[in-house]
Amino acid sequence: MSATHDSKALSVPQVRARKGGEPLVCLTAYTTPVAEFADAHCDVVLVGDSVGMVLHGLDSTLGVTMEMMVLHGKAVRRGVKRALMVVDMPFGSFEESPAQAFRNASRLMAETGCAAVKLEGGETMAETISFLTARGIPVMGHVGLTPQAVNAFGGYKVQGRGEAADAIRSDARAVAEAGAFSVVLEKVTESLARSITAEIAVPTIGIGASPACDGQILVVDDMLGMFTAFKPKFVKRYADLGVQADKAIAAYAQEVRERRFPDESHVFADATTVGKGKDGQ
Ligand code: KIV
Repeated sequence: MSATHDSKALSVPQVRARKGGEPLVCLTAYTTPVAEFADAHCDVVLVGDSVGMVLHGLDSTLGVTMEMMVLHGKAVRRGVKRALMVVDMPFGSFEESPAQAFRNASRLMAETGCAAVKLEGGETMAETISFLTARGIPVMGHVGLTPQAVNAFGGYKVQGRGEAADAIRSDARAVAEAGAFSVVLEKVTESLARSITAEIAVPTIGIGASPACDGQILVVDDMLGMFTAFKPKFVKRYADLGVQADKAIAAYAQEVRERRFPDESHVFADATTVGKGKDGQ
């Protein structure tokens, strides 16, 4: 077990109190080094179940397991000191009953040291959210496009256009009234995000849901441009790391093949003839 409570970290009540105030900056992370970068600049670091697609090559989040979330949660915990750390509940770990959700959410908190969990779903999850929050487990909700329901949706489409907006509005309301301290709105129209944000008492965190939300979240590998072929409309690329990684690996491969790497600057001298190198090795 490795549950920790860092008193310097942003707390759940502090995040909740940002409703209508300074925008909440949220980002996913799955590893210690990336968590350290995110922690320096963000309010919330989410260990999203997107880890399955981003790091493990799965084609949806459905194959993500509790073990994967615990492993990546522990790694992120080592890099987060001041942000609020939230871990996603994977598909199949919470839907069956409030008791099942409590068992798995408490495991995530105890083993990773996260301060809160996130779970997907609207009205149908309200009972579970109030069960968890009444027992000391802060919950971030997630409505609109919920990727774990990709098969039911028939793809990753924009949600809530036309009459479908009312169902998502009811979902957001139900999740907030059940006690969630914030709600992710994924891939919904600007007008729907604006009306939900005006209506519910807790911060909305948008991903593909316009600037009308109280905060924003992105998948870190998307905003860093790790995937050259994947560029959804709602993602802004702040770097092109995928292109840079490809160029760097190509250059390394070429230099090894041409015997240009390693060169003499990377080689250890014989200590008995020239003594220790500048780096002391
Ligand atoms: O899994 C994830 O990364 C998420 C965010 C995109 C909100 O749920």
